[in-house]
Amino acid sequence: MHLIETRDLCYVYPGKVTALNNINFIAPRNARIAVIGSNGAGKSTLFKHFNGIFRPTSGSILVRGEPITKQNIKEIRKFVGIVFQNADDQIFSPTVEQDVAFGPTNLGLDEETIHHRVHEALRILGIEHLAERVPHHLSGGEKKRVAIAGVIAMEPEVLVLDEPTAGLDPRGVADLNTFINSLSKKYGMTVIFSTHDVGLVPEIADYIYVMDKGRVVASGTVDEIFIQPDMLKSVRLDVPVIPRLLKSLKESGVDVSMAYTYTEAEDSLLRAFGKRP
Ligand SMILES: Nc1ncnc2c1ncn2[C@@H]1O[C@H](COP(=O)(O)OP(=O)(O)O)[C@@H](O)[C@H]1O
Ligand SMILES: [Mg+2]
Repeated sequence: MHLIETRDLCYVYPGKVTALNNINFIAPRNARIAVIGSNGAGKSTLFKHFNGIFRPTSGSILVRGEPITKQNIKEIRKFVGIVFQNADDQIFSPTVEQDVAFGPTNLGLDEETIHHRVHEALRILGIEHLAERVPHHLSGGEKKRVAIAGVIAMEPEVLVLDEPTAGLDPRGVADLNTFINSLSKKYGMTVIFSTHDVGLVPEIADYIYVMDKGRVVASGTVDEIFIQPDMLKSVRLDVPVIPRLLKSLKESGVDVSMAYTYTEAEDSLLRAFGKRP
């Protein structure tokens, strides 16, 4: 059974804007899934189906093998935590600590558990020092971490991050990589994230969906997707620098093996130059 599965999911906004067209999407347990696509591709609309904010116009969505109903929606929102693109929409308490405590408090947990979860979430996000601060006075990157901490504190099994790198500086993006990978490795969480910034995808994702104009135009592993520069260009996405460079070296006759991440590329190049066995 998949944690999340959509079958021929279509969504039409009022005013007849078709935002999603026959989406078949699967999130298996413990996967790190990237949904990439340029603006307007349908990423946010798809994500809003994952915890029942939107209902499909046609087709279906199953969470843990079950359709979302009035009876199970509360459970499903505990199971699937979503961090939206605009952190401001998700932050409203007078202090960071209270804000992160909001979700766990609503779950009806006892004080001690709430305290523990809040501090664990602040620690994982590296923002313990912000606990007493006023969220609205924080920087964009800090607010984003607060919003993520608020969702982590609910301990969802599936974490959905809509454009998590938007507005982050390079250090923030690097921290986010480490953070997503640790959630998956240490806590067995399934992470689904969207981005139009493809450079970071090979470092984070196990599986990729490429969306354009409401459709999934390709899906596959990192090496299956980033070997298709023409497809990516046709949907107005870049090919990440590392596979692009390695591919062109190969095409020029350099005996290197393909690589997608920095570490793989370093290894591949050192071997090609006889510096590593
Ligand atoms: N509230 C809305 N009403 C009508 N159309 C919308 C609304 N929100 C998004 N859309 C349209 O749906 C399509 C997909 O949007 P969205 O899911 O936000 O894409 P992405 O997140 O990939 O940028 C776009 O064509 C967008 O204009
Ligand atoms: Mg979006």
